[in-house]
Amino acid sequence: MEQLMRNFFLFLSENKFFTKLAKKYGLRFGASRFVAGETIEDAKNVIQSLNDRGLVVTLDHLGEFVDNEQEAKDRANECIKAIETIAEHNLDSQLSLKMTSMGLDISDELVMENMRKILEAGKKHQVFVTIDMEDYERCQKTLDIFKELKKEYDGLGTVLQAYLYRTVNDIEDLNPYSPNLRLVKGAYKESPEVAFPEKKDVDENFKKIIKMHLLNGNYTAVATHDDAIIEYTKKLVDEHRIPRDQFEFQMLYGIRPERQEQLAREGYKMRVYVPYGNDWYGYFMRRLAERPANVAFVLKGMFKK
Ligand code: FDA
Repeated sequence: MEQLMRNFFLFLSENKFFTKLAKKYGLRFGASRFVAGETIEDAKNVIQSLNDRGLVVTLDHLGEFVDNEQEAKDRANECIKAIETIAEHNLDSQLSLKMTSMGLDISDELVMENMRKILEAGKKHQVFVTIDMEDYERCQKTLDIFKELKKEYDGLGTVLQAYLYRTVNDIEDLNPYSPNLRLVKGAYKESPEVAFPEKKDVDENFKKIIKMHLLNGNYTAVATHDDAIIEYTKKLVDEHRIPRDQFEFQMLYGIRPERQEQLAREGYKMRVYVPYGNDWYGYFMRRLAERPANVAFVLKGMFKK
């Protein structure tokens, strides 16, 4: 049943008609629990209040699967505005973005042009940028872009997903770049030909890649709400005397906020992924797919005035 619901929400997350409708009608159905708001001003206030509670942030201007050049350029400009806002208000925040929002499905030239503009702004204002990882189909292209840009810009990281069979090899392949990587379980609907279908295998692979990347001496962001993985990481870093400035935990805005604060109080760096913007629909559906228990919360939201 849970798997069925998961597939249903992942199917909805890719529906273009609902995506357009959602943009038009604004944050609905309790999405504001997971999305900071529609404007950079909303996002600024949320970052400020998280920073006040000892949490650092990575800010994401929501958007994906953009299919026209002007929209991709607008999104890049929005990212630059976000970087400038972070700098202007002295916020402790990085930036996250998606390659399909920068024009990955349109042309490589467009993505590179948009990314270089953003990374120049990031360099100027010392704001680190992470390229989120999307579906398997776009994984190789995303990694190729990352490698190309990483030669020019130090303040750039990306994401690897534990559910993909290829990820163990990607960890080794990227090692010469000494990359700052966010490691996650993976949020898209993938076929068993490319991804572990069983959760327990994903969890095992997650532990394996965390260990590999940390022992390779690279900065590691362990992005999960799963206590078993968090405890595994804590034990691993103690055993291998890995310093606290070589890793951090990350969680999504609105998910387990009390656990986020607790980890920060324990002295771990805790980064919250804060999305904002009007293109919230796909992001929100993937959060529901991860945890169908959230649907009850959404139903309440639908009937609230
Ligand atoms: P898992 O799904 O096994 O959940 C463990 C426990 O956490 C659950 O039992 C529940 O208690 C709690 N929990 C998890 N999800 C919840 C939810 N939605 N609501 C309430 N409780 C929940 N993916 C990707 O493919 N590309 C990317 O670039 C990123 N980026 C990214 C950044 C950050 C900061 C995070 C935290 C996650 C991502 N992800 C991602 C998403 C990731 O792949 C994964 O889908 C989610 O983190 C859920 O997996 P968990 O590791 O939390 O474990």
